[in-house]
Amino acid sequence: MSGLFITLEGPEGAGKTTNRQYLAARLREQGVDVVLSREPGGTPLAERIRDLLLEPGDEAMATDTELLLMFAARAQHLAQVILPALARGAVVICDRFTDATYAYQGGGRGLPMARIATLEAFVQHGLRPDLTLIFDLPVDVGLSRAAARGRLDRFEREGRDFFEAVRQTYLDRAAAQPERYRLLDAGQPLDAVQRAIDGLLPSILDRCRG
Ligand code: TMP
Repeated sequence: MSGLFITLEGPEGAGKTTNRQYLAARLREQGVDVVLSREPGGTPLAERIRDLLLEPGDEAMATDTELLLMFAARAQHLAQVILPALARGAVVICDRFTDATYAYQGGGRGLPMARIATLEAFVQHGLRPDLTLIFDLPVDVGLSRAAARGRLDRFEREGRDFFEAVRQTYLDRAAAQPERYRLLDAGQPLDAVQRAIDGLLPSILDRCRG
């Protein structure tokens, strides 16, 4: 067995958490060692950074502060959880990773992609997900699903244009590197999304057994 790093991306309300559990259950049925995590977060310290990032506060957060906190949480998560799990041969399924930084801080906030790439190289030393599932959803559907869940976090309070740019960045990245990304239509009923995930299982199992 060799480790495999799978990330799930998409807007709020796309069903990433439910589908992360589903994928983990299908792999565990096959005897695979699965580690589930999320970003920002995944360790006690990184979860504290997550709280700073998501809590709407009185003081506006500078975009560079937001970017650096994302990568600070990521450095901690990599050191404590992701790298040790991959080293022992586990499949790591992570709800969001650096594609979210390109989409939200790059696309949404308008920070230069090159600045994100510099931090990515600094923190990840070349590590990239082996496979990224993008749960694509029209912006209005995602926003109304997030609103129905209750109190909005600092990102969920952003407007339509922000989320259109987030979505477009994900789609552009998927189109530029089709070998790493799989695009899933998250607007379908849940069982149809899960049939699409089932369709990916044989190749995931081949890769983690290879
Ligand atoms: P969620 O995990 O509940 O979706 O919330 C995390 C929020 O953080 C979500 O709005 C996306 C945002 N985010 C970024 O802006 N950049 C990042 O690098 C990551 C991992 C998340």
